[in-house]
Amino acid sequence: MSAIKTVHDAEYATANLGERIVAALKDAGIPPEKWTPEILGPADQIHGGGLQQTQVHAALVSITSDMHLLDIGCGIGGPARYFATEFGCRVTGIDLTDEYIDAASLLTQKIGLSDRVAFDCGDATALPYDDASFDMAWALNVTMNIEDRAGFYAGVHRVLKPGGRFCISEIGQGPGGEPYYPLTWAADPAYSFLLPPEDMRTLLESSGFRVVEWIDETARRKASTDGRPAETAPVETPLTIEITRGADYPDRRKNSGRSAKEGRLTNVMLVAERI
Ligand SMILES: C[S@@+](CC[C@H](N)C(=O)[O-])C[C@H]1O[C@@H](n2cnc3c(N)ncnc32)[C@H](O)[C@@H]1O
Repeated sequence: MSAIKTVHDAEYATANLGERIVAALKDAGIPPEKWTPEILGPADQIHGGGLQQTQVHAALVSITSDMHLLDIGCGIGGPARYFATEFGCRVTGIDLTDEYIDAASLLTQKIGLSDRVAFDCGDATALPYDDASFDMAWALNVTMNIEDRAGFYAGVHRVLKPGGRFCISEIGQGPGGEPYYPLTWAADPAYSFLLPPEDMRTLLESSGFRVVEWIDETARRKASTDGRPAETAPVETPLTIEITRGADYPDRRKNSGRSAKEGRLTNVMLVAERI
């Protein structure tokens, strides 16, 4: 097993996750036909701001039903299912955590979306797809775990069609010093590869992308008291982020919030175009 996979499993692997989510929804009396993105969102949108943030980001681009999207570091498939449900497009998700891919596939099959949403277990820096095979690519809160950023951008450039959009939400290194660990994506600095936003942008641009939207979310994160996502309209759901990320997640989120407040973390939501 490679070093990255070992570290990765320690960070994200969660046994029987899909089955536990299915059981929680069954116990709450919610049948699969009612598993909307809102019901699943607290557990399957594994990034700051949750489903609401995915919706805000998606509104920056045009997604149509004839498109094939690639969701890189797709987690358990929340954003991928949202895109397919909302826009009628096809989505392929890829993630290094095999338990997440199992959960993503199970939930997708349960809600009858498997004909349009598929998942592969694999590394974002070695994408197993043909050149120019996707209309759009997404990477929501993934790059903090990716050391070979140049290799990652080169691979996304290769698999995207010319003119295709690449949507990224990225937590970066702020000027205030090292963040406090454990963070939501890494227990310690060994698995956290943060870049100052301007370095990330330079690297992205030198990899053949043109930035078309650049929204600095750092101020919003600073204003948040504990890094919790903004409240959305309440829905009756038994799911929480802890079922997916574990009981220590609130403490990790507090560290993210405190680090953001002290200028140790930055947060950018961006859209780039493959030239
Ligand atoms: C914070 S979660 C975000 C999941 C998903 N994008 C979402 O927003 O719900 C980060 C994800 O990136 C995945 N990941 C990290 N490094 C990766 C790599 N090198 N290749 C593929 N996936 C990776 C993790 O397994 C995890 O599922």
